[in-house]
Order: sequence, then structure tokens, then C-alpha cells
Amino acid sequence: MKFSADTVYQIYPRSFKDSNGDGIGDIRGIIDKLDYIASLGVRYIWSTPFFVSPQRDNGYDIADYKKIDPTFGTMADFDELIKRANEKGLKIMLDMVLCHTSSAHEWFQKAINGDEHFQRYYIFRDGRAAGEPPTNWQCAFGGSAWEWQPQVGKWYLHLHDVSQPDLDWTNPEVRKEMADVVKFWREKGVMGFRFDVINLISKPEVFEDDTKGLGRKLFADGPHVHEYLRELVKNAGIDGMITVGEMASTNLENCIRYSNPDNHELSMSFSFHHLKVDYKDGDKWALMDADIPALKKLFEDWQVGMSEGGGWNALFWCNHDQPRAVSRFGDDEKFHAESAKMLAATIHLMRGTPYIYQGEELGMTNAKFTSINQYRDVESLNYYKILRDSGKTDAEAIKILGERSRDNSRTPMQWNAEKFAGFSTAEAWISSPDNFKRINVEMEERDENSVLAFYKMLVKFRKENPIVQDGDISFIERENPAVIAYRRTLGNETLIVICNFKGVETSLQEKSFDEYAAEGYKKIIGNYAEISKELRPFEVVVLQK
Ligand code: NOJ
Repeated sequence: MKFSADTVYQIYPRSFKDSNGDGIGDIRGIIDKLDYIASLGVRYIWSTPFFVSPQRDNGYDIADYKKIDPTFGTMADFDELIKRANEKGLKIMLDMVLCHTSSAHEWFQKAINGDEHFQRYYIFRDGRAAGEPPTNWQCAFGGSAWEWQPQVGKWYLHLHDVSQPDLDWTNPEVRKEMADVVKFWREKGVMGFRFDVINLISKPEVFEDDTKGLGRKLFADGPHVHEYLRELVKNAGIDGMITVGEMASTNLENCIRYSNPDNHELSMSFSFHHLKVDYKDGDKWALMDADIPALKKLFEDWQVGMSEGGGWNALFWCNHDQPRAVSRFGDDEKFHAESAKMLAATIHLMRGTPYIYQGEELGMTNAKFTSINQYRDVESLNYYKILRDSGKTDAEAIKILGERSRDNSRTPMQWNAEKFAGFSTAEAWISSPDNFKRINVEMEERDENSVLAFYKMLVKFRKENPIVQDGDISFIERENPAVIAYRRTLGNETLIVICNFKGVETSLQEKSFDEYAAEGYKKIIGNYAEISKELRPFEVVVLQK
């Protein structure tokens, strides 16, 4: 498969590297760190948005799609980024936020000032009665997905923040504008794209209440989404490029369609079911330990299902919306390096294209904030209020945010043990956890057994091994509640990947290591020295024959 040998590195520019001492990361900061990124062995850099934006949702609220926000630099900086990255064999992927604009966008401003042409760019509707929104749909950040717009005298739909009005993709002009945006960046030398919540662009034909949930199921993977995507890809001229769609509340069948190359939609998809296994009753804001058997089943369903349907997975644990994997599924204190490495191996050896989110390769942890004043994210601030209003104490709400907030992944990249973690010469827009003094690039680079070294090895291993790229996959140890394990096969070659997801010793159920050895398997990758009889806490063992 195309892109099966590649790994993508995700940058959240605001938190990656600040070059001008204002406490906010920028494009020149990325340029300064290109050698570091190249040293990881990755092929693509996906940067989250740095277009003109009021930054209510850190750039996912775009006011001008074709200009760089001065906070992050200039178009000349961007051109230089492309050029310098290309010189190092790195290709830039940009984040296209095409489902909604910022309410500060000229189109929305014209719309609310009475321009009917631009009103048709958005989704304005009458309420079902005076003061009542058209449906009961909830937005992703808490509260109704509808906002009353007094000048227009109608409600507008915003599936995210109130400042992110959804575009009406049934309007061909909107589709044309969006294709034009993608084409603009392609022509500037961008080599791939990530599409923000792209499976939410096609709304249902009839707007009605969701009697079972918050609305998501009604507006995800809508009736025309595949058709719109094919049209976008064709008109923007990006068929065959690396393109990944962020698919909210999606399903396997749709992701096969999105990513099967025969359909000329996208080259791969992000789905999120595996990152909800610690949501109690599906509620992100209700804490629960991760359900490992459920995680295992999801991996199996998606790995095998996508393979059978000719689809392609984007493989990831972390991004700018997710808490840090090592804090979430591992043990970020006692078994920090062991669990960070085990988690890396779990997905990097699967079928798909792996994504590394900045700092994940160091085992960066959750933010460990103790006060609401440290939080910046619009969703976290909204939910803090919702949690408090529902009767939770400050301590309870802070504990929940400590595990679930998106700010957990947005703390500054930890470059060294110096002041401000080497991210900036000034206080950053968001603070760092104290552990930057021991978890940072400089220290990791000095240690040949570091988490960083392990990530580099995995990226290289994929590039050099067709079995990782294109081998078949099947799952083993399926009844084992603590272990996620699978087999990759290609020709006569087999790889067995065994991961202990518990912080205690665990036994294999199907076959012992002695039996594997008797069959001719040899250990080629691991996070402990020699194989022992039992799996040790968070151990990963990769066997080859
Ligand atoms: C998904 C993005 O990853 C997230 O950060 C953003 O808030 C929403 N989409 C809305 O654009």
C-alpha cells in the first residue's frame, strides 16, 4: 500500500518551539527544529492550523484560509519551511478545517449583516418555537449546537464552539471555495492534507431531534459525504497524495469507503473508538480505567476489517485533542519508559500509517495541572463549568480535567531541562509539567535506551521491513485480558507482537515463550533485556521467524 512505509510527525505549532520569545510557538520554531524531526526518520510533518484566526479554538476557527496568522509568522516563513523541509526529505501536510469557519470570517460577517448570498454559506434555521432551537443537538464543547442570531432572526448551527459556524456543503459555491483553498496550498508545495472533522460536512436531509443521543450519530458520515469528498479531491487535484480524514463517531464501513484507493476519496482515516475505552458509559467526562479487552477487540475489528475491505488506517494514540498515552494507558511514574515503549510498539507494528504527536516520542506526560487557572482550552473551560454546575467540587472537576483535558497534550515541547523547557525564552502561553527536567529531548538523545531511541528504531524498522508495511494481520491471545498481541505474516516470514497492558506480571495463555523458541522464533525487539518466563509490567516482546 502507498504510505505503508511512512511515518507522520504531528506538530502543534503553538507548543512546539517559540523562535521570537513571545511564549507562543511559531513557524520559524519549526524550521529551527527540522534537523530534529528528520532525525526521527519520519517522512511527513503534519502541522495543525496556523491560518488567520481569533484563536478561540487555537486555530481551528479560521477567519482567512489563505493567510498565515501573524502569531505564527509570515507567508515567507511558510515558503521557507516548505523549502527547507523538502531539502531534508520531509514533506509538509496541512490541516484543512472545511466543516466550519470562524464567526470572524468575512463570509459569516457578511451573512449576519444581511447578505443573503453568504447566508446560504451557513446553516441558518428557524427554531421550533420562540426561543427554542431547531433540534436538541449538542455541540462538541458542551451546550446546544444552535445559536440564536438576532440580526438574521434565525438560529445557526455550530457543531463545535459557538464561534465555529458550520458551512453548508449542499451549496456548490461552498464546495468550490473549499476545493480552491486546498488547491491554493497544494500549489504552494504542500504534499498532503489532514481534514478536520471531515465526516461531519454532510448534514442529514431532515433536521430532527436525536432521541437516543446528542445528535452525533445523525450528522456523522452524512448522506453525501463520499460524493463531496470525491469532488473535493478531484477539484483540488490531490488524488494520490497523502490525505487523512478525521472521522468523528464513524464506523468501519464508512472508513473503508473513505480510504479504499479505488474510491478516490482519502488515503487513510483517523477513527477514535479505541480512545474511548476509558469513557464511562461513553461519557468523556466520567472517569474509568481503560477497558483493555474492549481496546483489543476494537484493534482487531479495525485492523482486520480495514484489511479485508481494502481500507487503510492512520495509527495513533496521541494528538492535540487527546491526553498523553503514557499517562492514560501506561504508568507515567513507575514504568514510564517501559510503558511508553510498549504503547509505541503496539501501534507502530500494525497495518496502517503511524502518527507520532510531538513529545510522544519522549514519553511526554499529561500536564498535571492543579488549578483551573492553568487551563487554556475552550472545551476544558466549558466542561469545568458544566462539571461544577452539576455539583462536582473543584477538586473533583480538576481531577477529571487532569485526565481528560485536551491541554494535557498541549503543554510545550520539552527540549531540555533549562528554564521554560527550552521551548521559549519567555513564560509559555501554557505551563509545563515539572517532569520536563527529566523528560526532554536533550536527555533522551544522550541515552541509547531512551524512549526516543525506541521510537526511531520503530520508524526505521517499518521502513526496512515489508512485513510491517504490507503483511497480513491476525490477533492472538484473544482471551487474555491483559495482553494485546498479533501476528504479521508475509511469505514465509512471521512477526509476533506481544504487549502487556498491565503494570504487573502477566502470563501468556496460548503459547509460552519456550514454545515459541522451540518453533524457531527469536526475540528481535523488546523493552526489557532478556525474555523471562512471564511478561513483566508493560513488557513488549516482538518475535520473528
Ligand atoms: C478537531 C480538532 O482536532 C480539534 O482540535 C478542533 O477543536 C475540532 N476539530 C474543531 O475544529
